Amino acid sequence: MTDLPTVALIGVGTMGEALLAGALDGGLLPKTLRVQARRRERADELAGRYGVQATTDIAEAVSGAQLVVLAVIPQAVPEVLGEIADHLDEGAVLACIAYGVSLADLQAGLPDHRAVARAMPSLASQVGDGITLLTCADECTEEQIETVTGFFGRSGTVLRLSEQEQTVLEPLSGGGPAYFFYLAAAMVDAGVGRGIPRPEARRLVADALTGAADWMAASDEEPAALIAKVCTPGGPGARRMAVLDERGVPAAVKTALA
Ligand SMILES: NC(=O)c1ccc[n+]([C@@H]2O[C@H](COP(=O)([O-])OP(=O)(O)OC[C@H]3O[C@@H](n4cnc5c(N)ncnc54)[C@H](OP(=O)(O)O)[C@@H]3O)[C@@H](O)[C@H]2O)c1
Repeated sequence: MTDLPTVALIGVGTMGEALLAGALDGGLLPKTLRVQARRRERADELAGRYGVQATTDIAEAVSGAQLVVLAVIPQAVPEVLGEIADHLDEGAVLACIAYGVSLADLQAGLPDHRAVARAMPSLASQVGDGITLLTCADECTEEQIETVTGFFGRSGTVLRLSEQEQTVLEPLSGGGPAYFFYLAAAMVDAGVGRGIPRPEARRLVADALTGAADWMAASDEEPAALIAKVCTPGGPGARRMAVLDERGVPAAVKTALA
């Protein structure tokens, strides 16, 4: 992969930092990255930790960058687009990772700029294992698409989709790890309830999670078939799964993700 042109990352919270760490681990050179944080201490911390250029000034971060990645909370997107608009280079592409922000929203916030993209990474990016769902506006050039794909591709796989597909898949992908952590938290608590020390319970649950993920990724079988392999009919595993069914866990998950 060739080195990317200058990338400006605007907003470095949990997801922004995961992308930053993943991109650098994936071989992006720190000198090609500029990050913008609202607080000076945060900017200094990021510069010290990652060796990137860091500023509190949006205009300084954006000017001259070929790719601007917007990683602020969704509610702040319109205001931050307003601050970016006058400083965006003509040939730059802006990719926004905020949940629920459409290409039309981005273009409306940047009246003179059509080259925008909607990206939905996941926190697994920080371990180089994330999938980023990506939709680029029709007005993006091949080179701009390559630039965006190249950046997110540093920390995992990029899946290009139509915007409609992206909207449908977003809850399963970007926030996906949270559902497993939710289950993991309850499993760790259950283990502690059985007298297992918390660190040990946590390690066992993490091992189960990794094993299950690797197995499912390597298998063509549906998750239900994998459950059947783990839980012998009539055995304790099957009885525990029956409790989850009786308590309506699958229906609750479907409702939450609808
Ligand atoms: N977390 C995930 O797994 C995940 C996955 C995919 C997409 N996303 C998207 O990534 C974005 C960031 O999420 P996060 O989890 O990283 O949240 P976070 O840790 O709370 O970080 C939020 C970021 O937004 C900035 N911010 C907050 N209010 C702002 C304002 N009024 N003006 C300018 N900047 C503001 C924060 O700056 P300060 O540090 O200065 O407060 C921080 O950089 C969100 O849009 C979210 O939808 C998150």
